[in-house]
Order: sequence, then structure tokens, then C-alpha cells
Amino acid sequence: MSKFAELKLGKQTYKLPIITGTEGEKAIDITNLRAESGLITFDPGFGNTGSCTSKITYIDGNKGILRYRGIPVDELAEKSTFVETAHLLIHNKLPSKCQLNSFSQLLTKHSLMHEDMRHFFDGFPRGSHPMYILSTMINALSAFYPNVDAESLKGDIDETAARLISIVRTFAAFAYKKSIGEPIVYPRHDLSYCANFLNMMFDSPVKPYEIDPEIVKALDRLLIIHADHEQNCSTSAVRVIGSAQVNIYSTISAGINALSGPLHGGANQAVISMLEGIVKRGGNVDKVIEKAKDKKNPFRLMGFGHRIYKTVDPRAKIIKQSCHDILEKLNINDPLLDVAMELEEKATNDEYFLSRNLYPNVDFYSGIIYRAIGIPSNMMTVMFALGRLPGWISQWKEMISTKGAKIARPRQIYKGRALTKYQAPQDC
Ligand code: SDX
Repeated sequence: MSKFAELKLGKQTYKLPIITGTEGEKAIDITNLRAESGLITFDPGFGNTGSCTSKITYIDGNKGILRYRGIPVDELAEKSTFVETAHLLIHNKLPSKCQLNSFSQLLTKHSLMHEDMRHFFDGFPRGSHPMYILSTMINALSAFYPNVDAESLKGDIDETAARLISIVRTFAAFAYKKSIGEPIVYPRHDLSYCANFLNMMFDSPVKPYEIDPEIVKALDRLLIIHADHEQNCSTSAVRVIGSAQVNIYSTISAGINALSGPLHGGANQAVISMLEGIVKRGGNVDKVIEKAKDKKNPFRLMGFGHRIYKTVDPRAKIIKQSCHDILEKLNINDPLLDVAMELEEKATNDEYFLSRNLYPNVDFYSGIIYRAIGIPSNMMTVMFALGRLPGWISQWKEMISTKGAKIARPRQIYKGRALTKYQAPQDC
């Protein structure tokens, strides 16, 4: 293929360079298009637009491939840990034993929140969605740790990355404890990342929480497969906000807010309410499938479809297997899993879904595991945020370290009124 694309406009021909990625994917570089031709491109939702080059995550949506820094996600899910994968994403290499140890020590050091922040939780109305609490608390870190602008972080990001990855667990668990009126449980220095989180969530002075290594491993695997996903909505939000040189805490807070949308990370909670609704109404999945196909109905099959994957999301395959393993281990027979599997079976044999390449995505089965572990549905998107934290941090770090990085500022095509004269307010 030629190194240039040619754009013919009237008598003018513009040569636009072709960029080729590691795996051969190609893009037309339009960086100078407007300067040379006066034209811009038009691509609502950016489905055909690359916002950056990146060395972090590779996805092939047709083949169902997902790799972090070149390593397939299923290998990491099987052999790595979430903390090790976080280091890989942020530092572009798997840590040595010493590096892993010092990163873990930083996570322990930063697992405690500033005691003055504890009172913030008293201010939230009971029943506040934990995603709103989380984004507020993460944003508030900017006030407690002010020196985190992009400049001061270009050098050593470890301290701040560890604070974010670690304290987000504490904020999440504290929000949960507050929501059920139980005393908060502090992080411990002697527990692994996920064991500490589970303990903060479920330990109680009257009923000590028994840490089950298989549940810890299942949660660790879930966080690994949520850790990054190239330029999805919330990561793009982090890059756009971060491009204005906003401090990292406020930038990550914006990512959390973007993730909370039901079309994005909020889908895992929406899947559970969809499955619960089906079970409550007698388990008839056909009705839900017909509703999802009805163009007049805004309802969509939650956990199905994806902007990039046009086959089964590789993460959904890993989670589905994990679902079976954990429910078997805990001897739980969850009707939601049966309904989910029947939905998948029917939808993936239905012309409407097949013709649009709609398959289960990461959110379709994840909520069933969280339920089995005891995590309530309104905490499920919080779990997605816990997993995605290292991805947001690594993407932000890559963006601020890019030479000549500019503030994100898309253009538009104006379709409003032509020049109009001002008119003073008319009599009523
Ligand atoms: C995540 O981007 C990422 O990487 C995100 C993520 C990550 O890790 O960060 O993977 C996490 O957000 C996963 C997606 C979770 N969201 C859901 O499960 C919500 C349900 N899914 C859909 O809303 C939808 O599939 C999206 C939002 C995920 C993708 O939407 P697109 O790419 O904009 O697709 P589209 O709206 O252009 O749909 C194409 C067609 C349309 O029908 P036609 O107009 O062609 O007739 O497919 C239909 C849509 O109506 N369609 C669905 C559907 N998803 C798309 N119809 C019914 N049910 C669905 N779920």
C-alpha cells in the first residue's frame, strides 16, 4: 500500500501520509488537512478517528484480541496479579520482584485516607450512588495533595499512582460501609490488594470476614481484565481533561464520571437489573430480545454489543468461565446466570444481533461474579473503576509525556442561523 492517501478536491489533490501500527493497522494522518485544504473531517462519536498513537493496549475487534503492553489479557488473567499488571501498564514492563515489592509497599503506605476526609462521608445523603461519592473523593485529593500537576509528575509517578490505585479501594469500601450503616474497616498492612479490599468491605466487629483465596483470585482476575481498553469513552475523557494540564486527581475523577454512564461502565449494574427483571417476570428471555430489537423502543440488551469488538469480547469469555468456577466453588445456584446464558444463546443465534455483530461484552457476566462475592449491584461500576485506574493513569502519563502534546480541541460544522440582528424583547 502506498505511503500516502490522495484526496482530490476540485482541481487540487492533497497527499495525506498513511500511518501504520505495530500490527499493520493503518490511519490517514490529517494533522495538516485544515491548514492545507481549509477542510476538516466529520466523525460524530469518533468511530473512525484515531486521537493518538499509543504503546499501551492493542485490540483487534474482529479477532477478539486484547493485549496490555503486548501480553494477551488471558495470559495475564491466568498468571499475573492486578498489582503486577498495574505496574506493567504504567511502566511498560513487568516488575522485578524488588520493584513489585516496593510498589506493594507504596500501595500499603497510601491505603489510608487523610483522617479529615473521613468526615466527607457524613455529608453524602444516605443512598448516594457510590460512583458519585468516588469521583468526589478522588477530586478532593487535589486539595489534600496539591503538587500533582503534569510537570511535577513527569518524573516519578509511582507515589501518586500508588495513592490513587490504593486509596480508591478505601473510598469504595468506606462508601459501602456508610451505605449499610456499619462501622468502617481500615486497610491492613498484611493483606494483598484484593484481600484488603474484601476485608474492608465485609469484615465486621461482630462477624470477622474469612478471606477465601479463590474469591481473592477471582476478584484479582476481574480487576486485571478491566485494567485498560485503549481509547474508550472514559479514557478519552481522561486524555481530553488531562490535555488542559488539569491535575491527575481531577482528571481521574472525570474518568470515573464518564465510566458511570449506562452505555459504558454502568452497563454491568444495568445487566443485573435487566436479568433480575427477567427472573422476576418468570424468566421469559424472548420478550427482552424482541424489545431490544424493536427500533421504536430505546431499550438495548445491556452487556451486549461493542464499538470495537465485532465478535465475543475476550474478557466476556474469561469472566463467563470464572462465573461458573466461583458459583460452583461457593455452591451458589444463581438463576441470573441461567438467564444470562439463555439470553446469550438466543441472541447470538438471532439475525438481528448477528447482522450487527452484537455479542456479550465485558459487562454481561461480571455482575454475576460480584453478586456471588457479596458486592451489591450499585457497587459494580465502582469495581470497574477500581480495575480501570491503572489504565487511566498509564494513558494520562503517556499523553503528558508526548512531545508537543496539545490541548484537545475538536472542530465542528455549524448548522445554526446565518448572521442575525439583535432584537430587543417584544411586548408580551
Ligand atoms: C464498555 O469502548 C470500550 O472499550 C468500552 C469498554 C471498556 O472496557 O472501556 O469495553 C466498556 O463500555 C462496554 C459496553 C457496555 N455497554 C453496554 O453493554 C450497553 C449496551 N450496548 C450498546 O449500547 C452499544 O452496543 C454500545 C454503546 C456498547 C456500542 O454502541 P455503538 O458502537 O455506538 O453501536 P451503535 O449504537 O452504532 O449500534 C449499531 C446497531 C444499531 O442498530 P441499527 O441502527 O444499525 O439498526 O446495533 C444496535 C443499534 O441499535 N445495537 C443494539 C445494541 N447495541 C447496538 N441493539 C440492541 N441491543 C444492544 N445492546
